[in-house]
Amino acid sequence: MAIFYDEQSKIFYLESKETTYAFGINKLGILEHLYFGKRVGRDLVFTTYSEKGRSHAVYVFDEDGVKYDITSIPKEIETPYAGDYYEPSLILEYANGSRRSDLVFEGYEILKEKPKLDGLPSLRYGETLAIKLRAKTAKVILYYTVYEESSVIARSMKIENTGDDNIRVNRAYSFSFSLPNRDWKALYLAGGAGAETQVKQTTLDRGIFTIDSKRGISSASMNPFMAIGLPETSENAGIAYGVNIIYSGSHAISAERTPMGIVRVTGGLSDFDFSWKLEPGETFQSPETVLVFSDKGYSGMSREFHNIFRNALIPKRFVKKSRPIVINNWEATRFKFTMEKLRSIVETVAGTGIDTFVLDDGWFGKREDETSGLGDWFVNEEKMEGTLKDLIDFTHEKGMRFGLWFEPEMVNRDSDLYRAHPEWALRTPDEEPVEARRQLMLDLTREEVREYLATTINKIIRDHEIDYVKWDCNRDLAEGYSLALPVDRQKETYHRQILGLYDLFERIVDANPDVLFEGCSSGGSRFDAGVLYYFPQIWTSDQTDAPARAKIQYGTSFVYPFSSMSCHVTESPNRRAKHITKLYARADLAHMGATGYELDTTKMTEEELEEIPKQIAAYKADEDLVFDGDIYRLNAPFGDSNYFAIQVVSPDKKKAKLTVMKMLENFNEPELRIFPEGLDADTVYEVAELETSMTGASWMNFGIYPQMPQGDFETKVYRFIAK
Ligand code: GLA
Repeated sequence: MAIFYDEQSKIFYLESKETTYAFGINKLGILEHLYFGKRVGRDLVFTTYSEKGRSHAVYVFDEDGVKYDITSIPKEIETPYAGDYYEPSLILEYANGSRRSDLVFEGYEILKEKPKLDGLPSLRYGETLAIKLRAKTAKVILYYTVYEESSVIARSMKIENTGDDNIRVNRAYSFSFSLPNRDWKALYLAGGAGAETQVKQTTLDRGIFTIDSKRGISSASMNPFMAIGLPETSENAGIAYGVNIIYSGSHAISAERTPMGIVRVTGGLSDFDFSWKLEPGETFQSPETVLVFSDKGYSGMSREFHNIFRNALIPKRFVKKSRPIVINNWEATRFKFTMEKLRSIVETVAGTGIDTFVLDDGWFGKREDETSGLGDWFVNEEKMEGTLKDLIDFTHEKGMRFGLWFEPEMVNRDSDLYRAHPEWALRTPDEEPVEARRQLMLDLTREEVREYLATTINKIIRDHEIDYVKWDCNRDLAEGYSLALPVDRQKETYHRQILGLYDLFERIVDANPDVLFEGCSSGGSRFDAGVLYYFPQIWTSDQTDAPARAKIQYGTSFVYPFSSMSCHVTESPNRRAKHITKLYARADLAHMGATGYELDTTKMTEEELEEIPKQIAAYKADEDLVFDGDIYRLNAPFGDSNYFAIQVVSPDKKKAKLTVMKMLENFNEPELRIFPEGLDADTVYEVAELETSMTGASWMNFGIYPQMPQGDFETKVYRFIAK
């Protein structure tokens, strides 16, 4: 049993093998947060702050007349105005205008089966605790799911209007917890399209540090993730907490250091310009947030995220299953392709081990460039110089499967769909709709739009033999208005858009159970756990230049497993960066994730084409590490470091793969020694590339000197095989 309630002390213990999360009902009836960290005994005590001479705090008295400072109590859920002055996690507005919710504990339930979240993606399995609270005319349920085998707690909140009048939900975050007064630092992933998941760190001093997205999608600007560690926390040692929201829309996570020095962490669905009208009897479900604790550094934290996402988040049918190895035509042709060109790309790689051809943007409507065609999901046979079936048949003849690109959420003004239904785009009355990449976003709050998209797209997939779909989303939202919603529900638009998106995902994914869907958003602009619930992998970045990719994949791996990162070998010199890199270097990086190729293969030399089957055979030999391996980041390719090094070890520790990349060639550089991690100390491992066998203890402590070839952006891969 992972959930234990001590009736005597009124403390709940949520326990996994290595972790305890504890809170209880204190003397004042407040749900007080006690502890989140390494497994401890069931003997914790309340730290409820009695008066210590703090002025300007709100005091209450217990039945014995003892005075308590209510302001400083760390809480499981904070609401404003009842003496708590910090970032609230819940703000409800009642019919009389009051925004004060004094929460009263009403009971709890332990659920063996984790309930599915209404309309939202969430982790599967896990024993779940439901804490029932009352707030005036609302019932608030806090959900905690515990996974005994991992140090993960999943949290969400549901609000029910139990009164006769409407309530407004003005903020409904998913969680809150507090960390004792220590020298905490926040680590987060910021960037932009083409430069996703750059690792940033900041000291958590007095004040509030928030990462957020107001873009209506999770965004490359700030991934919905924050880690918190101590100054001494490194990749492979020390305490690290991780927070990741399973949500694809606007979000916020904040860490606030209070005057007590405590750091309070809360977050979830962004409340930027948000207000949800909750009618009597209705419920509102907040997105779920995954909380992780590790005392094995940031890599340890990542392993927890990776395992839970690989086993309890992605669609069951892809758990530990190998993925297609694709050839995609986008970087080779962009919009300008001919049937002959597409066929010749397929032909040149047939028999190499590449098993799926993906036709990217440009096959539908009047789509010669980005200015037109989105929304018109019918095959442009004139441009294709034939039917889609012709191309699919050809691909099949060459022994490969077929994939197709869609961007379902979007419409170009120059499209039949927009001409027929201009009101189907999200737009503000009396204003010109805001364009981005010359496109508008369809209003997914409308049932008829979702119905149209599901019917049209499902028909194309059903009428053709399609095994793979790349689902793109090439802009952020910019209109907080839906012509379909009443005036007093306009502030629900962004969240309703995401609920509509999830409904659409379900209608299309469920109708096509044999198809693998890959997410994309100008690369990784919607790389989040919400998408991963429906699609097992996401195109990590449009930036495919190997050294830039090294940084992006390094950052992405803080939360998301390599099996979720779609990574392709592209041309050299790189289209954007102009860097010249070796084919093997590009492959070494791409083969860390769900791999593929995306270049004009008809321009490759014979020797290069001959390399592909060898690369794929090597990839296949280690594929299990992509789907199941434990990550150890060894060298960060940032700051003073000139090297990227990530090691992945099989769960049984029988093998491991270490990928190293040198960024720039430097003259007379200091020695490079890398210290592997996670091997079994007593097992002897052979590294064939070095013609050396040593015990795990020796490899980990003596280290390894990578023999890097001279030149920029060089890579080396070392495989450790237990003898
Ligand atoms: C986005 C994607 C690319 C490609 C183009 C097509 O930018 O990230 O991979 O699919 O759209 O327009």
